[in-house]
Amino acid sequence: MCGIIGMVGEKYRLEALIDGLKKLEYRGYDSAGVAYVENGSLVLRKVRGRINQLIESMGEELKKNIRVGIAHTRWATHGEPNEINAHPQTDCTGKLAVVHNGIIENYRELREELLSRGHVFVSETDTEVISHLVEENFEEDLLEAVRAAVRSLDGAYAIAVSHAERPEELVVARKGSPLVVGKGQGLGLLASDITPMLSYTRDVIFLSDGEIARIRGSNIEIYDLEGNRVEKKALHVDWDETDAKKSGYKHFMLKEIMEEPEAVRRSLTNRITSNRRVVFEELELVAPAIASARKVMVVACGTSYHAGLVFKYFLERFSDLDVEVDVASEFRYRDIHVDKNTLVIAISQSGETADTLQGVRLAKRKGGTVIAVCNVVGSTLTRESDATILMMAGPEIGVAATKTYVSQLVVLYLLAMYMTAKKSVWREEFDEILYQLAHIPEVFEGLLSRSEEICKLAKKYQNYHHFMYIGRGLGVPTAMEGALKLKEISYINATAYQAGELKHGPIALLDEKFPVFAIAPRDRLFQKMKSNIMESVARGAPIISLGTEGDRELLEVSHDTLWVPKIDENLYPLVMAPVIQLFAYHVSDLRGLDPDKPRNLAKSVTVE
Ligand code: AGP
Repeated sequence: MCGIIGMVGEKYRLEALIDGLKKLEYRGYDSAGVAYVENGSLVLRKVRGRINQLIESMGEELKKNIRVGIAHTRWATHGEPNEINAHPQTDCTGKLAVVHNGIIENYRELREELLSRGHVFVSETDTEVISHLVEENFEEDLLEAVRAAVRSLDGAYAIAVSHAERPEELVVARKGSPLVVGKGQGLGLLASDITPMLSYTRDVIFLSDGEIARIRGSNIEIYDLEGNRVEKKALHVDWDETDAKKSGYKHFMLKEIMEEPEAVRRSLTNRITSNRRVVFEELELVAPAIASARKVMVVACGTSYHAGLVFKYFLERFSDLDVEVDVASEFRYRDIHVDKNTLVIAISQSGETADTLQGVRLAKRKGGTVIAVCNVVGSTLTRESDATILMMAGPEIGVAATKTYVSQLVVLYLLAMYMTAKKSVWREEFDEILYQLAHIPEVFEGLLSRSEEICKLAKKYQNYHHFMYIGRGLGVPTAMEGALKLKEISYINATAYQAGELKHGPIALLDEKFPVFAIAPRDRLFQKMKSNIMESVARGAPIISLGTEGDRELLEVSHDTLWVPKIDENLYPLVMAPVIQLFAYHVSDLRGLDPDKPRNLAKSVTVE
């Protein structure tokens, strides 16, 4: 996810544009840049790092008065975070600049075509193809040039285009990524969300997919891609600026849970071929190591560790590989048996977790091949691993991992199928699993609409001091993740056990003050789970069961139930994630706590 902004019209201070960009920094912050037109030429300023570094590098220049400019803060998806890959991206003439939020899925083919027609590329970004496409189509009308260019694009984009020969206008287009436009005093504005607009106007227009607009000061013309004029009503916004950064959500955590359908779509992008096979171009260099691997080890912490457990159960189910999963703080001090036939999967959304990094260094010293599953381009983990699979979930501000967890699961399901096919054969079961995986975003939309129902249940259970999450098989990591979410943001003593372990001790804890959250989908272990639920009920424990919609047998043995749609049993950890996250979120919020900043915790544990 990135942030884009643009302003055009009567003269304004360049620093006003950058002030607006700063309000989008939560959307991405590994590099930043600005382009503005001065005396008929385009001026470009870009830095690797945060917006403050751009401000420092520009100094007095920011006091200039300009009439048109665009700016960008980046969350890298294609190409390392550096000055060259920072936006704006320009064309061959150096007169045209583009800022972009989204992922162009067919950028490789477009880049090859443009190169063959003599265009010169300078960056590794997908965005640069847009600059050269607009360049090719530009004669007189910039909007027509952009309209022609975006028709070639597959994927998601919110773009703003500026041209030195058209200093009186900006052209914007939107498909799949948010873009809002508005009018200030003699000024036209565009941005990724309304936050930067609020200083100028509270009446904004959210462009829809396939719309394109020409902004000339406070005159905004909107068209569809066929060139028909579109009339849209402005919405009046009464958020305050802090709210707006959360796009109206009370907390970043809730916003990020609600972003999960988009996060899943992005994690799936470019990874399923037209003949329904999994592809990971980023693993080509380590393909031999995957094919020859005789042992797989997963090293991770916290939520990432739970994702690793799901990967283990799934890969072992369909391949002859043994998968060992360990928390990095233990892995790094063990006498691990790693050699050239060992494949180590390091899972870390931040890519900066100290224990995980140390575990990777140890594994590499012993000759292992390391594949990182990570959300941050250019993070330490990506630089120290032999290959990296990027989760593409976009920045996650809330300390509790939510959308990055579901992105990890999606990537790991795909990786397990990819590895199985590399090691032996593409299992026929994968066809259905892949089909259902591709439809998860829609399933999530339905689940997320039940937030209020989950909140009602959270209200009923918010005052308990203890909770026990139980599960079997693939339900075990879900139980562990549910307990971690609840404990880290509500401070309730939530613990998780393999349900079969209850009788070996933990059941002694259960009574009417100790509710049980049972992960009980209609999978191969359901009857066993039902027995464990009944054992718990017999001890007086209140039971919340999370099961498969319409399961009357589960309804009859539970005090309260939450449901997910029936799905391939391997995918229950994924579809249950939003439910366990929302339950924890609502309990925390109802207890008057701040789920975004839980006490004692940090977003990235860079200490050992
Ligand atoms: C999960 O909600 C926590 N934020 C924490 O357990 C986290 O998953 C863990 O610190 C690992 O972080 P990483 O994925 O960035 O390595």
